[in-house]
Amino acid sequence: MVRELKREDLPYIHQTPAQLFGPSDSFESIESAIFGRKDSLYLIYESTQKKGYMGMHVDLDSADIATLFVHPNHRRQGIGEALIKDAMNRLKIRGIKQVLLEVSIRNHAALHLYEKMGFIAIHTRPNYYPNGDDAQVLTKELR
Ligand SMILES: CC(C)(COP(=O)(O)OP(=O)(O)OC[C@H]1O[C@@H](n2cnc3c(N)ncnc32)[C@H](O)[C@@H]1OP(=O)(O)O)[C@@H](O)C(=O)NCCC(=O)NCCS
Repeated sequence: MVRELKREDLPYIHQTPAQLFGPSDSFESIESAIFGRKDSLYLIYESTQKKGYMGMHVDLDSADIATLFVHPNHRRQGIGEALIKDAMNRLKIRGIKQVLLEVSIRNHAALHLYEKMGFIAIHTRPNYYPNGDDAQVLTKELR
């Protein structure tokens, strides 16, 4: 099931090697990035165990997907899709009209996932990542 992230989930986020946060960040910096910002919306997928999470920043009528991570042992089981579907429903209820995100043009798994979920590419940001990779900016209108 997908639910909102709670403080008790922070050790899981801390030990999970995702892109935005991971074991090299201090527990306090993760806590403040998630719970110290009023615009944060973080969701976690948990069934028998915690399997992945997603983080967004929500503005007045738009939202950015900041992070999405499914543990490698649980990939290709529909968890990424379930997180995005749940997030889109929650954002719609809040009156959000547009969702945006950046993803590396080399990240084929994520690009396929977002495409399946109805996101479309609007432009490319050259050299966006520290390794020089370009980012694809994707968007989805919520109605
Ligand atoms: C991208 C990621 C979140 C996908 O999560 P997931 O739970 O494995 O995805 P799902 O099982 O819900 O897959 C849904 C769809 O995404 C696409 N997809 C997912 N993984 C894919 C892969 N390795 N190759 C191609 N398409 C893939 C497929 O279209 C799939 O639908 P299908 O199973 O009907 O073919 C996961 O691979 C991950 O955490 N990667 C590392 C972090 C990352 O890149 N995050 C995104 C940054 S913006």
